[in-house]
Amino acid sequence: MLRFNPNLESVPGYHPGSPKGRTAGEVQESEVAQLASNESPFPPLDGVVEAIERAASATNRYPDPEASELREALAAHHGVDPSQIAVGNGSCEILVAAGQAMLSPGREVVYAWPSFSIYPTLAPLNGGSEVRVPLTADENHDLPAMLERIGPSTAMVIVCNPNNPTATYRGADEIAEFVRSVPEDVAVILDEAYIDFQDRDDPEASLELFHERDNLIILRTFSKSHSLAGFRVGYAICPPSFKAAVDAVRQPFPVNVLAQAAATEALRHGGDVRARIAEVQAERARVEGALAEAGIASSESQANFSWVRIGDDRSEEEVVSAMAGEGVLVRAGTVLGAPGHLRVSYGTEAEDDRMIAALEKALAG
Ligand SMILES: Cc1ncc(COP(=O)(O)O)c(C=O)c1O
Repeated sequence: MLRFNPNLESVPGYHPGSPKGRTAGEVQESEVAQLASNESPFPPLDGVVEAIERAASATNRYPDPEASELREALAAHHGVDPSQIAVGNGSCEILVAAGQAMLSPGREVVYAWPSFSIYPTLAPLNGGSEVRVPLTADENHDLPAMLERIGPSTAMVIVCNPNNPTATYRGADEIAEFVRSVPEDVAVILDEAYIDFQDRDDPEASLELFHERDNLIILRTFSKSHSLAGFRVGYAICPPSFKAAVDAVRQPFPVNVLAQAAATEALRHGGDVRARIAEVQAERARVEGALAEAGIASSESQANFSWVRIGDDRSEEEVVSAMAGEGVLVRAGTVLGAPGHLRVSYGTEAEDDRMIAALEKALAG
């Protein structure tokens, strides 16, 4: 009998949006609307694909372990020093490494719930403890309640803004007030995977705060607005000590050659990326309008997905499988911590029209 780390017994598994896995051919040829993983409906930009092709001939070599070119480009983009950028195999890798680097028996993580489904793995994996702070009635972070739960054993607090899965957003002022109130020896991880999609504040607002506080870690990803989910590149804007700790607990060469080339090139196409973000925002207005018109309740989205309330008297499983039967994949709320809901990413206009029709049909059936 193999003997595993007993911590594993309490680690909740991650449930991917596309459980059977997909080959590249399947993804490109599929007629199915993939609206279950908050990906970009747009393929990578042409210039990015060309950069990937150029880098392909160098893949007999290991990648730059420090991803220097990418980190320098990110540092210039955000107005920080390259020593304040840690890149990872998706921002998920940085989250998991942060858990390993900061949590242990007696050390605690505080986060809101429901929120991103990786957060519940962090404490059990490392023998630490966790405090889940329920969202407010309007499904947003309850920042004062989170502050109250921070105590001497809190090592880190995570705020996901906009929040996955509820799509709700706390303004930059509220976040700033919260971060300024957290003791400086507690790491604040501000997970901004969807920050580009909100339209209330400058997406760089948290950077001002970063220059003010030594305990703020801002997490970003190339998986959403940069159309590079398949490459797995994310990063933290963080104190150098956080980068060193994350590097100490993970394998070397975390970001592969092609991913480094793709992400570095994507940063050179800010205008095109912003144009796509604007398209997603327009699609959000259209989808939320159509849902309201159909009498289907949803939270006020500031992300690239809607959080739809289908109510407790409907079988989520039935709705999800009826929609799958119509060629539309969406995510059930139960696995995301909130039964009676669906999370629906925005796709192309045609995909979203199909989604709304399939949802209306499933709810009527
Ligand atoms: C809130 C949040 N943070 C982080 C991530 C992870 O992104 P990455 O693809 O960079 O690992 C996701 C992915 O869905 C997310 O929803």
